[in-house]
Amino acid sequence: MNSNQSTALITGGTSGIGRAVANQLAAQGIHVVVAGRNADRGEQTVAAIRSAGGKADFVQTDLRDASSARSLAKRAVELGNGRVDILVNNAGIFPFGPTHETTEDDFERVYALNVKAPYFLVAELAPLMAESGKGAIVNISTMVADYGMSGMSLYGSSKAAINLLTKAWAAEYGPSGVRVNTVSPGPTRTEGTDAMGEGLDQLAAQAPAGRPASADEIAEAVVFLATDRASFIHGANLAVDGGQTAV
Ligand SMILES: NC(=O)c1ccc[n+]([C@@H]2O[C@H](COP(=O)([O-])OP(=O)(O)OC[C@H]3O[C@@H](n4cnc5c(N)ncnc54)[C@H](OP(=O)(O)O)[C@@H]3O)[C@@H](O)[C@H]2O)c1
Repeated sequence: MNSNQSTALITGGTSGIGRAVANQLAAQGIHVVVAGRNADRGEQTVAAIRSAGGKADFVQTDLRDASSARSLAKRAVELGNGRVDILVNNAGIFPFGPTHETTEDDFERVYALNVKAPYFLVAELAPLMAESGKGAIVNISTMVADYGMSGMSLYGSSKAAINLLTKAWAAEYGPSGVRVNTVSPGPTRTEGTDAMGEGLDQLAAQAPAGRPASADEIAEAVVFLATDRASFIHGANLAVDGGQTAV
């Protein structure tokens, strides 16, 4: 066993963008801990990484509050033999619809997973990273946190909170060696966007790239920010949206 091996916790690492991040980090020799609710998907993800020669563990969790976030963080630290070097706050839900049709339950669910869970994962893990003098946190946001889009008030606002949290955490933990950054994807083909069908292409057609991203294209940016090649990047929000927010 390599005791110097880095460990990364990727929430929602069992599907779409999160799984692509897990695969790419594992291919770089990083031990990945993937978290999600569905044990079948989790075990499949881990088995694929192991059969490619990587090190991976699955933790089944429903991220719904501070206590589930803190428990996941503690389990990841155990699996990482006392450390988690990289945290990727990726698990998210993205329902859309009119504000006047949004229920309180919708509101609670979106903010619990998209805001509260990352908040308390960072609360648990950033101090440990700071103690070791090094760490990287990458938050997954969205292009619709940067501009107003009809039907996206709930989702967009939850991710806008994440955009500010990235800067606040960069200020708070950066001086201790913990880099905190955001990746803001545009429309990306994943299991989560399958149901959008051609709607995803239509949304993507408005941007210069003119097409949806693959999960791997988003993961490239996440892995860059999570690893030492981005050693001087703190508090940034990297748009990986085919140019949508540039025009
Ligand atoms: N795809 C896009 O076009 C796009 C664009 C911009 C931003 N994003 C953001 O990118 C991130 C990933 O999106 P994706 O398209 O890859 O999503 P996805 O394919 O739907 O995957 C979501 C992941 O989150 C996990 N998850 C969902 N609810 C959870 C819960 N309550 N507790 C723990 N894990 C949970 C899922 O696993 P289980 O179902 O097993 O729990 C799954 O692994 C999200 O934050 C999303 O907002 C996506």
